Amino acid sequence: MSGVRCTHITKVYPEGGGIRDFSCEIGDGEVFAFLGPSGCGKTTTLRVIAGLEEPDSGSVLFDGRDVTAVPPERRNAAMVFQSYALFPHLNIFDNVAFGLRARKMPKPEIAPRVAEALELVQLSGLEKRRVTELSGGQQQRVALARALAVHPDILLLDEPLSNLDAELRYATRTQLAELQQRVGITAIYVTHDQEEALALAHRIAVIKDGHCHQIGTPDEILNQPATPFVETFLERQRKLMARGG
Ligand SMILES: Nc1ncnc2c1ncn2[C@@H]1O[C@H](COP(=O)(O)OP(=O)(O)OP(=O)(O)O)[C@@H](O)[C@H]1O
Ligand SMILES: [Mg+2]
Repeated sequence: MSGVRCTHITKVYPEGGGIRDFSCEIGDGEVFAFLGPSGCGKTTTLRVIAGLEEPDSGSVLFDGRDVTAVPPERRNAAMVFQSYALFPHLNIFDNVAFGLRARKMPKPEIAPRVAEALELVQLSGLEKRRVTELSGGQQQRVALARALAVHPDILLLDEPLSNLDAELRYATRTQLAELQQRVGITAIYVTHDQEEALALAHRIAVIKDGHCHQIGTPDEILNQPATPFVETFLERQRKLMARGG
């Protein structure tokens, strides 16, 4: 496990989108959400933290160590992508084993790791199935198992529930919260869904058009909005909470 610190990260694409001057300090074992409308820069920031994107300026630190120049495979962070990015031609076992083989883990150690990860996401017994034979929610959990199998210090989740219907979304969200508590892993959770961020995260960064408007606990974001945008973006949730919903 480790904490994450971002200091003044800027990554702007030639067309002008991206993230500007983003700083945050995420504690060991904390669930931290990036919340904001589509195109605000959430994925960009997550990719910089994962090492998949090089920032124009600023640094990323894991447990106090500057990893800005460290390649992604040596950061021990695991990312669950917005689209799952599972391999449809591989079965579930091989999908989950992918990161372990990429890290050249000795063969006899791979099977127990895969079993452990599948058990965590409650998919034991489905090792031989193909990805196409699973439901969306099960595929989402395979993607999560693949990330957990490498025993990452930091789990990066990019809208991991966005392809699920409302009911499954809610159920999977609850499972994810339980899993995080059990494993105690530091997690960054990207979402445009206010309710999801408020339910899952210890703290939230509210981002719009590449700018971070506020970092705070769900209670602070709801009740002490730092900018008019934060106030309006969370207005519906505030009303729902006031009604006890
Ligand atoms: N590789 C790229 N090249 C050029 N522009 C990009 C690239 N990736 C993202 N952008 C632009 O940067 C901005 C931020 O994109 P980003 O993917 O970080 O948004 P997001 O907050 O994750 O949105 P969503 O909720 O839709 O996933 C957008 O305007 C997007 O069009
Ligand atoms: Mg995105």
